[in-house]
Amino acid sequence: MSRHISPSILAADFGNLEREINLINDSDASWLHCDVMDGVFVPNISFGMPVVELASRISKKPLDVHLMIVEPEKYIDQFCDFGIDILTIHIEACRHAQNAIKQIRKQGVKAGITLKPHTPINALKDIITEVDIVLVMSVEPGFGGQSFIEHTYQKVKDLRQLIQNSNSKALIQVDGGITLQNARKLFDSGVDILITGTTVFKSNDPVLTIEKLLTV
Ligand code: DX5
Ligand code: ZN
Repeated sequence: MSRHISPSILAADFGNLEREINLINDSDASWLHCDVMDGVFVPNISFGMPVVELASRISKKPLDVHLMIVEPEKYIDQFCDFGIDILTIHIEACRHAQNAIKQIRKQGVKAGITLKPHTPINALKDIITEVDIVLVMSVEPGFGGQSFIEHTYQKVKDLRQLIQNSNSKALIQVDGGITLQNARKLFDSGVDILITGTTVFKSNDPVLTIEKLLTV
């Protein structure tokens, strides 16, 4: 099992985005997470193509893009064209998740599928062998800085079981409310990648915080 951090720029200082991304470039983070929200799938609007394009130019870490938008199929090719590494879409937003996953992989990009906190792991059973990443949302998608939902630990264990039983190679990500207090328990529960916005970018020393999240 691997341990990785993917910091979310949603919590970064957008007036100094280049400086913030450069901090991550010099850290032990494995990816840079970009949260795209449309104000329809989630009750908030974050940013879109121009910011992801900027991040792709400045970041030395591969980009991990999380689409919280309706009809993600329409924009898959455009996001993949930014040279990103992971594109994650919501199962609740897809008309046909299998086709969308195929469309992402055809572009040479790792395909992620994500579940809102109330969507059961069972929803993944037909596609678990076709995805590279499963992202378990540990807050309702839409806003940074929310409290972690405790039920996530059990969900991660159930997901790990499903992955093992089906011989899937999918990595597990958890996103929302990650802190220095819950990081270890999450890694121990079987999470490969922790996505964290507030804990990293609102700390005095984001580079040191990433190091601590990896070693707590
Ligand atoms: C929530 C986003 C998360 C969020 C995490 O909808 O998907 O990536 O930015 O932020 P924190 O770490 O602040 O909970
Ligand atoms: Zn996210």
